[in-house]
Amino acid sequence: MKLTERQTGIIKKTFLDYQQTSAFLDNPLILKNAKGLYYWDTDGKRYFDAIGGIFVASLGHCHPRVVEALKCQLDKMTFAPPLHGIADITLDFIEKLGSVSPGDLKYVKPYSGGSESIESAMKFVRQYFKQTGHTGKYKFISRYFGYHGSTFGAMSASGTGKRKTKFEPNMAGFLKVFPPNYWRDRFSSWEQCNRFSAEMFEDVIINEDPETVAGVIIEPIGNTGGIITPTDEYFQIIRNICDRHNVILIYDEVITGFGKTGNMFAAQTFGVIPDIICSGKGLSSGTIPMGAMIANESMADAFFGDVEDDVQFAHGNTYAGNPLACAVGIAVIDEIVEKQLDKKAQRLGKYLFEKLETLKKYGVVREVRGKGILLGVELVKDTKTNSSFPELGKMLKKTALKNGLIMRIDPSWFAVAPALIAEKSDIDEMFELIDKSLKDAIQAVK
Ligand SMILES: Cc1ncc(COP(=O)(O)O)c(C=O)c1O
Repeated sequence: MKLTERQTGIIKKTFLDYQQTSAFLDNPLILKNAKGLYYWDTDGKRYFDAIGGIFVASLGHCHPRVVEALKCQLDKMTFAPPLHGIADITLDFIEKLGSVSPGDLKYVKPYSGGSESIESAMKFVRQYFKQTGHTGKYKFISRYFGYHGSTFGAMSASGTGKRKTKFEPNMAGFLKVFPPNYWRDRFSSWEQCNRFSAEMFEDVIINEDPETVAGVIIEPIGNTGGIITPTDEYFQIIRNICDRHNVILIYDEVITGFGKTGNMFAAQTFGVIPDIICSGKGLSSGTIPMGAMIANESMADAFFGDVEDDVQFAHGNTYAGNPLACAVGIAVIDEIVEKQLDKKAQRLGKYLFEKLETLKKYGVVREVRGKGILLGVELVKDTKTNSSFPELGKMLKKTALKNGLIMRIDPSWFAVAPALIAEKSDIDEMFELIDKSLKDAIQAVK
């Protein structure tokens, strides 16, 4: 699209997330409307949204049930003061989210986004250990290539080098191990590689001294690393390690939550339940900022005491549990449950996976991976050497937009996660655009 002078001028007075203004101005996108699976830009051009905005619009844009729930709440109450009250709709939301969360993860605190949820979980874990006699446990182990948010704690837990080094020193007590993808060429089987990668957590815990380690934080499917999809066993090994050393296991399900992987949470997809789930994005289908921390009830017990005990969680956010957000969250969960959209993601995801596999005919696709409808495609120069080919991904960003397609494109991979409302014919339409955009990009760079 071509920007007007006014649009260009205003763009120069702000910044876009994690991208340079000149790069954006080179390949701009200014959106005006959205409905279902589509966006429209200010020129009226339509785009297929293959990624729900950015893993957010789980039910598509402006879903009628969600919009109606928001409108209804707008007429009743838009704010309740968290310091001296709670909205009745917030109670309904807490109960609802607890009812669809796995295992005994029933202790729910709503927030305004993913970073807030992660930040809260880490503080919750540190205070939990202070109140249960393990005052030296404060360190967190997470993974390189992981992303957990933009605030200082969440950033310190993140393993995306370039997004952190500009702000160093990051917070103390944050350690990293590599995810399985990093080691895969050194092992003859993916299973072995996963075992090795999972066992690394124990090596680090032991060498740091278990009495100093509070938690392990992982995205079940790592987006920023290129839809890193470990084996089920990987999670079981980490679960056992955490249990052995009294370490809290936190899943960052900001992307993987709410149906995309084929179940309400990826914890259910991989069959291993953590102590805490952090969520965001798809919880509101992009209708309003929202996130939530969902903790194990037995951890929550440490925060209940007599009135004079001073064991309350020393944490709060003005907009946490906002009534408008809670009304939206209830509508999203109800829609997923009633229409069994998580099961639909399994069926459609299988169909989409097979289609993406056919892209291997171009000789630049190393692997298709993911679970349910959350899938990624790794791009390489050729499949003999598997050497990286960032020029292709950069070109794909341009050809996709030109062809009216929005995906998450990293130079070395691209990801799709269409809204759960998509039908087979929508997947066909989306795939045609992906196929054409990749073909155009290959032609342009080869
Ligand atoms: C896995 C993951 N965790 C946490 C976050 C932070 O969420 P938010 O941007 O809503 O603060 C993100 C955002 O992209 C994410 O992808």
